[in-house]
Amino acid sequence: MVKLKTINHAELEANSVKQFYLPDETALAIYNLDGEYFATDDVCTHGQAFLSEGEIRGNEIVCPYHEGAFDIKTGEPVEPPCVVPINKYEASLEEDGYIYITIE
Ligand code: FES
Repeated sequence: MVKLKTINHAELEANSVKQFYLPDETALAIYNLDGEYFATDDVCTHGQAFLSEGEIRGNEIVCPYHEGAFDIKTGEPVEPPCVVPINKYEASLEEDGYIYITIE
C-alpha cells in the first residue's frame, strides 16, 4: 500500500475535478464534492476520454464523449453506455494542505 501526495486542496474548488498523473503515468481524477475528496481513474472504461474533462452532476461524473456516467464515490457505472466500473482510491486531505491518495 502506498500513500501518494497529489494536488493542493486550494487548487480544487468545491464540486470540481482535476487530473493528476501518477509516477507510472496513470491518469487519475481527483474530486472535491462539497469539501470531501475522492479519486478515481481518469480514463473512461467505455473509451479513451478523460473524465476530468467531463462534468460533475451531484455525486456523478459525466463522461465528455458519450455522456455515460460513474458514481464518484464508488466508481460504479450509473449511466450507459458505461458498464464497467472505474477504479477508485482512498483520498484524504492532510495537514500540509495536500490531498493524498492510497494505492493498493
Ligand atoms: S468514452 Fe466515456 S462514455 Fe464513451
